[in-house]
Amino acid sequence: MTNDRQPATGNRPLATGLKERIRQLIGREGPIPFDRFMDMALYDPDGGYFSSGPLRSQAGGDFLTSPETSGEFGATLARFVDKEFRRLGRAAGFTLLEVGAGSGTLLSPLLGVLDWAPRTLALEVSPAAREALRQALPAVEVVPDRRELDGFRGVVIANEVVDNLPVAIAVRTEDGGWTERRVWSDGADLVLVEAPARSEVLSWLEAHAADVPAGGVVECQLAAGNWMRRMIDLLEAGAVVVIDYGDTSEGLLPRRRRGGTLRTYRAHHLSRHPLDEPGSMDITADVDFSALARVASDRGTQARLCRQDEFLSELGLDGRMAELRQRELAEARGGDPMERLRLRSRVKEIETLLHPRGFGDFRVLVATR
Ligand SMILES: C[S@@+](CC[C@H](N)C(=O)[O-])C[C@H]1O[C@@H](n2cnc3c(N)ncnc32)[C@H](O)[C@@H]1O
Repeated sequence: MTNDRQPATGNRPLATGLKERIRQLIGREGPIPFDRFMDMALYDPDGGYFSSGPLRSQAGGDFLTSPETSGEFGATLARFVDKEFRRLGRAAGFTLLEVGAGSGTLLSPLLGVLDWAPRTLALEVSPAAREALRQALPAVEVVPDRRELDGFRGVVIANEVVDNLPVAIAVRTEDGGWTERRVWSDGADLVLVEAPARSEVLSWLEAHAADVPAGGVVECQLAAGNWMRRMIDLLEAGAVVVIDYGDTSEGLLPRRRRGGTLRTYRAHHLSRHPLDEPGSMDITADVDFSALARVASDRGTQARLCRQDEFLSELGLDGRMAELRQRELAEARGGDPMERLRLRSRVKEIETLLHPRGFGDFRVLVATR
């Protein structure tokens, strides 16, 4: 287990034409910022990794996530949703929105354990995921675009989504300044070139990467900040919960010194360079949770940042594990061997969700109002 999304098996056809269209765009406009490239590689309607092709987050896909690992993840988050429902005085119209709901493996157990039914929305850019969600959860409203959403009281959950939002890439220079990496075409291949950093990138770096030494590489998460702002603005009251790999700006410093956190996933492995075969692989970076928390505070919410193991344990998951272990022990003393194995495997799943160097090391930002 690592601090990264867990790669899984799977094959998919390569996107056709996207690389050529990126080349044509560069031909018209010159080198494009990396975040523009990443936006096309992941979200282009005709070849983006998420917006075309098969379901990505499932056992046969490119990676495994906490909800794909165990239903206990969604069932534990149900307790958070229930607490918010009570805190808001059981508000009429209380809404649960999951952003990037994948195949529904978080919502399904979550809704299954609640003894009341929130209005539930799933925002998904992937047509394959939207179809899977409609099949698995017919009562959930599945929407492709946040612009279709109106304000509500309730909870927004995003698990392993913010790490995909496009990043600009900046490099610290010897004189203490910054350059920005852009994508250029040398005829055959897409290549990275360095150019002066845009002003919005410089402002972000000043706020969140001032301590990075010469040679350090930083993913500037402007799109993540904008996303957080929009999610908070949707909320009349309630909470936005962001769960992902990443750290504070300070915690990310060693990784930035060593060349940054941008990486790709495909099938079993960390994949190739992000410029190879755009649309064929997941591109991701560690989330700067200090930057997200700053947006949350600036937007008037109370921001709390903690680790996934801490968050889930506070919601009772470690107690649940202890209870399952007791039941497993009881079965071991002359009980049903099959039931004992089932209990053992549920305990193992929870251990995975809480593993201090795996999913447990993910960060959880809760922005409440
Ligand atoms: C890594 S998967 C995680 C899926 C699910 N949340 C889970 O934890 O298993 C990311 C999911 O978010 C969706 N997605 C990515 N960017 C998105 C965005 N900007 N808005 C909505 N959905 C997005 C993808 O289609 C994909 O289903």
